[in-house]
Amino acid sequence: MKVTVVGAGAVGATCADNIARKELADELVLLDIKEGFAEGKATDMMQTATLLGFDTKIVGVTGDYSKTEGSDVVVITSGLPRKPGMTREDLIGINAGIVKSVAENILKFSPQAIIIVISNPMDTMTYLALKSLGLPKNQIIGMGGTLDSSRFKYYLSQALKCNPNDLQGFVIGGHGDTTMIPLTRLATYQSLPVSNLLDQSILDKVAADTMVGGATLTGLIGTSAWYAPGAAGAALVEAIIRDEKKLFTCSVLLEGEYGQSDICLGVPVIIGRGGCEKIMDFNLTDHEQVAFNKSADAVRNMNAVLTEMNLI
Ligand code: 2OP
Repeated sequence: MKVTVVGAGAVGATCADNIARKELADELVLLDIKEGFAEGKATDMMQTATLLGFDTKIVGVTGDYSKTEGSDVVVITSGLPRKPGMTREDLIGINAGIVKSVAENILKFSPQAIIIVISNPMDTMTYLALKSLGLPKNQIIGMGGTLDSSRFKYYLSQALKCNPNDLQGFVIGGHGDTTMIPLTRLATYQSLPVSNLLDQSILDKVAADTMVGGATLTGLIGTSAWYAPGAAGAALVEAIIRDEKKLFTCSVLLEGEYGQSDICLGVPVIIGRGGCEKIMDFNLTDHEQVAFNKSADAVRNMNAVLTEMNLI
């Protein structure tokens, strides 16, 4: 199997590191436009191989997409990360052009690849990739909800003082501070609803902390987080390569599901060798559906910028 990660910044490099450690690929290409940067990071990672015991071959390249030829999975992390005080949406002006050109270059050499989009604003960048490449919708997957759900389980585990691996919980909607929807109603500790264990006020705080989870880290670190975003990307690569048929929330094209069309938004999906193999119906309550529609309105407004920029 061959995997490419585009963008050797903190998120891309962490994603590549996880992919190598899990031995998901025989060949892993790390590509960046900054001269020598991906080569340096790839070599540094290769020098951990005997320490960590993996045998993935990691190749770093500067802007040469021909080296990505025949990739089974491609992860796009290119673009600027946010700085404290910025929203993900503030990045559209710079990142949209970058993501479009990356996606088009990937298509030239790996038309069959499943493409995972991490660049922000993630739902709009996923929609941009989908619209500009014209690939089947199962091949284009936005990572956001996978990360947000992991953050949700982290905050729940802090509130419950439990092992996060004993929790189930999903965040749907947009990957934005005000557009994501942590589904507290459906979150469980083993099979017990967390609402049996936590007061509503605590659950509300867990949801609020989850929604600004990325912004909180950006405030602390001074730039976007990378460990969890990189690991979330790698978890999706793993589900595809190993054909796991696992349930994640990802941003995918909706065609009537959850009452929305012509938009990429976070919903529960089955991820396997075919990419997004199925969209699951979680039967939202009226209240959740209202929140989902509001989230869709905000993402749709952001998508309109792509038309203004003549990108789609
Ligand atoms: C985050 O939420 C980078 O969007 C990513 O940390």
